[in-house]
Amino acid sequence: MFWLAIVLLCLIPAVQGATSDFAWCYHNTSCNDATWATNAPSYCNGSRQSPINIDSTKATLDSNLKTFTFTKFDSKTALVKMENTGNTAPHCEHQVLVQPECDCGLKDSEGVAAFGFLIDVDTSTTGQPASWKTLTTLLSQIGQKGQAIDPLSVSISVDDLVPANTLKSFYRYLGSLTTPNCEEAVVWTVFKQPVKVSKDLIDLFSTTVRVGDASSPYMLNTYRKIQPAQTITHNSSPKTSLSFGVLLLALTLWMS
Ligand SMILES: *[C@@H]1O[C@H](CO)[C@@H](O)[C@H](O)[C@H]1NC(C)=O
Ligand SMILES: *[C@@H]1O[C@H](CO)[C@@H](O)[C@H](O)[C@H]1NC(C)=O
Repeated sequence: MFWLAIVLLCLIPAVQGATSDFAWCYHNTSCNDATWATNAPSYCNGSRQSPINIDSTKATLDSNLKTFTFTKFDSKTALVKMENTGNTAPHCEHQVLVQPECDCGLKDSEGVAAFGFLIDVDTSTTGQPASWKTLTTLLSQIGQKGQAIDPLSVSISVDDLVPANTLKSFYRYLGSLTTPNCEEAVVWTVFKQPVKVSKDLIDLFSTTVRVGDASSPYMLNTYRKIQPAQTITHNSSPKTSLSFGVLLLALTLWMS
């Protein structure tokens, strides 16, 4: 068992028009994340950039942080579309995104809420949990950038993918979008409890989903390197110890 990290759901509000003016990328030294601060200095060279390592020993308790009340997370029909957005996901690069469309947020320093989930990769079993098996079975239909399943033909809820007890305790920090222009408008919530998913299913992301057409590379290592630390709070004890990295699944799940 090992920790794989991840950021999975990026909720409300989605960010339209968040694409960058320059052709950024992950795998070419002329446009990879090392160049973003130069090519998009505002905001990629800012002071509250994401992702960061979540150092749980430095997180302070904030009793004002309440647990969330999620709506539609139990709806089997709320997930309506799944899309391979390639490199160009305008929102979070990490991802399984759940997002209603909305044009708000980027101008506000706390205008975008992003949820990060940790995936605990389980090597002791295969095909688990069933909801993730159902979801990952669909990946072959969106192997290439731009491919989408719309409407989504399966009925799974967000609760099926992310057990409710996962959503009770979390870390919180103010950060940014993780792709250019890296707008510093994101309130990040990283849930402490990992979601356990068997390795065979996680591997499907890196053996099925490509960054472009059929001749392009698989979507591997499509994440931004860790950015300088920020002040982290959390809503409840105990703290768990985790190291935060990112596995990028540029996959978008649209929620109605
Ligand atoms: C990297 O990008 C540059 C500029 O677009 C291009 O000329 C070059 O061929 C690319 N290199 C690779 C390895 O894709
Ligand atoms: C990025 O910000 C640092 C610190 O403010 C500054 O020294 C540096 O010149 C900036 N780099 C670019 C490319 O703007």
